[in-house]
Amino acid sequence: MAQIIDGRAVAAYVKGKAAEQVKTLNEKGIEVCLAVILVGNDPASTVYVANKRKDCDQLGIVSKEYALPEETTMEELLSLIDTLNKDSAVNGILCQLPLPRHLDETKVLEAISPLKDVDAFHPENVGRIMMGKYDFLPCTPAGIMEMLDYYKIDTNGKDCVVIGRSNIVGKPMAMLMLHSNATVTICHSRTKNLAEVCRRADILISAVGRAGFVTSDMIKPGAVVIDVGINRGEDGKLCGDVDYAAAEKVASMITPVPGGVGPMTRAMLMCNTVTAAKKQHGI
Ligand code: GUN
Repeated sequence: MAQIIDGRAVAAYVKGKAAEQVKTLNEKGIEVCLAVILVGNDPASTVYVANKRKDCDQLGIVSKEYALPEETTMEELLSLIDTLNKDSAVNGILCQLPLPRHLDETKVLEAISPLKDVDAFHPENVGRIMMGKYDFLPCTPAGIMEMLDYYKIDTNGKDCVVIGRSNIVGKPMAMLMLHSNATVTICHSRTKNLAEVCRRADILISAVGRAGFVTSDMIKPGAVVIDVGINRGEDGKLCGDVDYAAAEKVASMITPVPGGVGPMTRAMLMCNTVTAAKKQHGI
């Protein structure tokens, strides 16, 4: 049976460290503030944004929430971002994705000041990640690296397969594993012999978004399996991409869903917000 990688425990540890830093900043008279923009009424996004507020409250970070109607125009959204960019009391800005279809996501992400870009989605920050010289990392890949570190999972020279090539997870994840000296393969919908490629992985990371996508025949015995998916199974329950019941018999370590990557993503947003505040105050 695989050992469970407990994302809630690692997140609690990481958030504890972030809370200490917030306290230290507060003692210097500095408040830490995260602004979150939500456009429209996507139910999942509404839950995610509410969770971010809870995390901020827990850590002593001031949270400002901007819930805008579905029909918000580009001009209105860019104007709000401009105001938040200029507001020295705001350290981090996050615009919850996905945006309604009429809004240009690329333009919106480019409008957020790279210094306040706690998602690390701005092209300047993406470029810095490529070069291995960065202030912010996207929260999900950063959270996964923290978990690997916490459990002392060695990445040096290991074969890592990432399934999924999104800008939010797959691509930056692959880059971070590369920086950690893994040999990295990125798989996607056109990959041939997917199962065979995945079976080579010492560390298999799935970010596909389909329940049951990773079956046990895709896992090398003893591999570490990281499940980024957050899906609803046929029974309506929350589940990842990995067929967990079968995978835990093959893998050496595995992240559950819920309680794996998800809590880490939330924790890393808090860390990025603290980092932004420190940078902006020259600390
Ligand atoms: N929607 C789903 N995941 C994310 C994320 O990490 N950041 C933002 N801004 N929106 C998301």
